[in-house]
Amino acid sequence: MAEIAVLGYGTVGSGVVEVLRTNQRSIDKRAMQPIRVRRVLDLRDFPGSGIERILTKDFNDILNDNDITAVVETMGGVVPAYDFVKKLLLRGKSVVTSNKELVAKHGAELLSIAREKNINFLFEASVGGGIPIIRSLNSSLTADEITEISGILNGTTNYILTEMTQKGRGFDEVLKEAQNLGYAEKNPDADVLGYDTCRKIAILISLAIGQQADFEDIFTEGITKITQNDIEYAKMLDCVIKLTANARIIENGVYARVSPALISKNHPLSMVNDVFNAIFVNGNVIGDVMFYGRGAGKLPTASAVVADVVACVRSLNRNLMHFWSSEKRRIFPIEDNICSKLVRFSCENGAQKDKITSEVSNIFGGVSLIALPGNFDEYAFVSEEMRERDLDEKLKLLIKSGTAKEILSKIRIEGAREK
Ligand code: HSE
Repeated sequence: MAEIAVLGYGTVGSGVVEVLRTNQRSIDKRAMQPIRVRRVLDLRDFPGSGIERILTKDFNDILNDNDITAVVETMGGVVPAYDFVKKLLLRGKSVVTSNKELVAKHGAELLSIAREKNINFLFEASVGGGIPIIRSLNSSLTADEITEISGILNGTTNYILTEMTQKGRGFDEVLKEAQNLGYAEKNPDADVLGYDTCRKIAILISLAIGQQADFEDIFTEGITKITQNDIEYAKMLDCVIKLTANARIIENGVYARVSPALISKNHPLSMVNDVFNAIFVNGNVIGDVMFYGRGAGKLPTASAVVADVVACVRSLNRNLMHFWSSEKRRIFPIEDNICSKLVRFSCENGAQKDKITSEVSNIFGGVSLIALPGNFDEYAFVSEEMRERDLDEKLKLLIKSGTAKEILSKIRIEGAREK
């Protein structure tokens, strides 16, 4: 019998207990022994939940219990999760976590403790909810040098953008719904400002290259500035807007960014809607591989956590994860990135389209302007591919020439591979 504990009885923690109960027979069979939850740590009470008998508010009840061999951490955040997880690993207990903040910040150290102790620190649920992306990078794509990882890594923002695009609903209303559905982080700024996606892509890069990719170094822009006008322009170009992460790995560094992007309706990512996530991995011998599934929510995330628990229980005294070193891999500044963008700008009401087209083309080369029906004080165009710093210089010229009053938005175009 394997006895486990769960730290944090929130959305994911309670999901873990539920999945273990619902699929107890098949899980026990796959684990090759029964798995039982011996303790749950939470500061709250849960009357009528059925866990009252095993609930504790004292972490030491778990740390000092020699019968507990594996612990699930689903508290989220770095404090006190880091301290708890480190103590548990040092005490020889395997840890499974869904906590991307913890893994992005302290993954290298916690993996190395687990390796020294010959136990496990597993974090499948930290990226892509129920999608088995960590396991695939760790144990399936081992013949390849990974050259690119990209995709949609946040369920909340994908849900919001899908509802805004398909039903014209407002941002705040849909965000509240995503919170009620258990998709959003405790502080939803982490979702809508892109930080959650940033931590996830940092984890994937680190795992792919075996070196620390610092999430603080990755350019990150969220979806809070996306308006219905942006979405309408995207539709005119046969595109949708999604929050995407993109990482291109070369020998001396990584081009990485998190931002909204226009995706052509011919691109598979354009069809990834609602809470679903999709991740493309390109390997130098396998080519493209795509992973797709529910990226957030109680049960899909709990499914990934429980699968890690099964792996821990089956591999007592055998370390499973590749290690990544704390030595940093360089992330190039965003200004060096090459991409094309949809640029929206305001101009004098009623300004002649032909005149503006020629003025914009003088600076950017031949472009065609697009305008929303009935809108006479703004235009948009899609730039050629160029370095972001060059594009910003040209936009300054556009303002200086008086052609544009203000740059209203700049949204990257995804699809053609970024260079
Ligand atoms: N808030 C996260 C999301 C949860 O929406 O993707 C899963 O990591």
